[in-house]
Amino acid sequence: MSYSELLKPINSFLQCATPQEWIEEAIKPENFSMLLLDHLICELKAAQSAMFLIRKYAVDKSGGNALLDWLQPFEQLIYKREGNWRELAAKNKLTKSVIPKSDSPYGQDLIDKMVLLIKEELHHFYQVLEMMDHYGVEYKSITPSRYAKGMLKHVKTHEPETLVDKLICGAYIEARSCERFAELAPHVDKRLGDFYISLLRSEARHYQDYLELAQSIAPASIKAKVEHFGKIEADLITSPDADFKFHSGMPNQAK
Ligand SMILES: [Fe+2]
Ligand SMILES: [Fe+2]
Repeated sequence: MSYSELLKPINSFLQCATPQEWIEEAIKPENFSMLLLDHLICELKAAQSAMFLIRKYAVDKSGGNALLDWLQPFEQLIYKREGNWRELAAKNKLTKSVIPKSDSPYGQDLIDKMVLLIKEELHHFYQVLEMMDHYGVEYKSITPSRYAKGMLKHVKTHEPETLVDKLICGAYIEARSCERFAELAPHVDKRLGDFYISLLRSEARHYQDYLELAQSIAPASIKAKVEHFGKIEADLITSPDADFKFHSGMPNQAK
């Protein structure tokens, strides 16, 4: 499938396109490091939130611990600045099998989709580190953007709505990332642009996996919920946002 075909369902799922003003801001040399750093953190967050979902909803205790061990060297690098990033590629594996909790109504499908997703996100994380090394971008800690929190605060507080809403938010984050990679690719250095294009395929599948899981868990059609979160998402993308990040809104026009 060509990448324009991959993007068709994504662009119709998203309720707005990325504003041209954001793209112009993103390709300014002074924002180059921030974009890569924030991308790095987004890949780790994607792995962490998928892991949180399966640990909370689907796996037994020993599987939960195996999942934590898997993520640990990646988190240590970011939060404690420990370890050599070049060794992480070899550490991206799950050592024990992950078994569904006996009382989990969600089970194997959630585990299988999320384990594959985590593996891919951690691989992306490593690839962003390679890009940072190539372009000489030093790691430093940064504050998160308003984007994910801005959606997650609308998640319902009772089950199964909470899980369904979180999965829908996950679908939007993946879809928006995919759309922005495609928008950025033609405007950046070839090596980085090729990397962005290489990410499209897995992020497009991630968005679909999240949506399918949401629909399989929800007791009724998720159409109205998808619309609802789509509006919130589009508002975060099109409203003014002074804090430039990968998922930020309309850049400050005054700058
Ligand atoms: Fe990713
Ligand atoms: Fe993803």
